[in-house]
Amino acid sequence: MSQLLEKINKEHLPRHIAIIMDGNGRWAKEQGQDRLYGHFHGVESVRNIVEGCAELKIEYLTLYAFSTENWDRPEYEVIGLMELLVSTIRKEVESLHKNNIRLHVIGDMNMLPEYARQELNEALDFTKDNTGLNLIMALSYSGRWELLNAVKNIAYEVKQGKLTVEEIDQDTLQRYLCTSGFPDPELMIRTSGEYRISNFLLYQLAYAELYFTNVRWPDFRKENLYEAILDFQNRERRFGKTSEQLISG
Ligand code: IPE
Ligand code: IPE
Ligand code: MG
Repeated sequence: MSQLLEKINKEHLPRHIAIIMDGNGRWAKEQGQDRLYGHFHGVESVRNIVEGCAELKIEYLTLYAFSTENWDRPEYEVIGLMELLVSTIRKEVESLHKNNIRLHVIGDMNMLPEYARQELNEALDFTKDNTGLNLIMALSYSGRWELLNAVKNIAYEVKQGKLTVEEIDQDTLQRYLCTSGFPDPELMIRTSGEYRISNFLLYQLAYAELYFTNVRWPDFRKENLYEAILDFQNRERRFGKTSEQLISG
């Protein structure tokens, strides 16, 4: 067994890990290849990390696969990514199911091409009764899009008389986010040496521990995940309190 894995305290695992899978394009360029070659290899990392999380019995894994802003990339890359998404889902759905993994999608599904939406819906339905790892794919997702959407839907309910302004509290807002039903991530990992959130889970990451690594996504493997979890386990999460308050419980 891996030495890093042995060091992990299994009683103190994050329930929810969120990852910004970044660096595919640079990884490919560094090898004189096309950006799509990087995305293609990124799928192997997804497989490996999903397996790693399932083995550790992590409850939720959210992967940022495509942002609202990524629609503005060159057309060939957007189409390539959509095709890769569809072929990957088709190839992996059986194995997700065998491993008791439930697939979820957050994001603006209406923006996706019809063939992609259909493939996803089938996979969502196929895995809906699974009780192991919840694999949440953020697709055509951004935090600002999600918050805007929530505000609009809340306003609509008020207008319809189903909700009063006084009733709106933090629980109400949570319910209107795409992630209602999922706990907030305790650990957020970003690969490839960028130190930003890039419109990911803006509301949900309020108290997440952030972990940045220079490793490009196509090179990211279970060992790198274990390092991130170990780093997380060495942090003191104070939630605004003092260290002394935490010790005295
Ligand atoms: C992340 O890799 C995957 C997506 C955003 C779809 P990038 O494509 O952003 O790769 P870099 O950051 O340009 O290297
Ligand atoms: C964030 O990465 C989105 C995904 C990983 C899907 P980007 O590569 O799009 O983010 P920026 O442009 O570096 O902020
Ligand atoms: Mg990038």
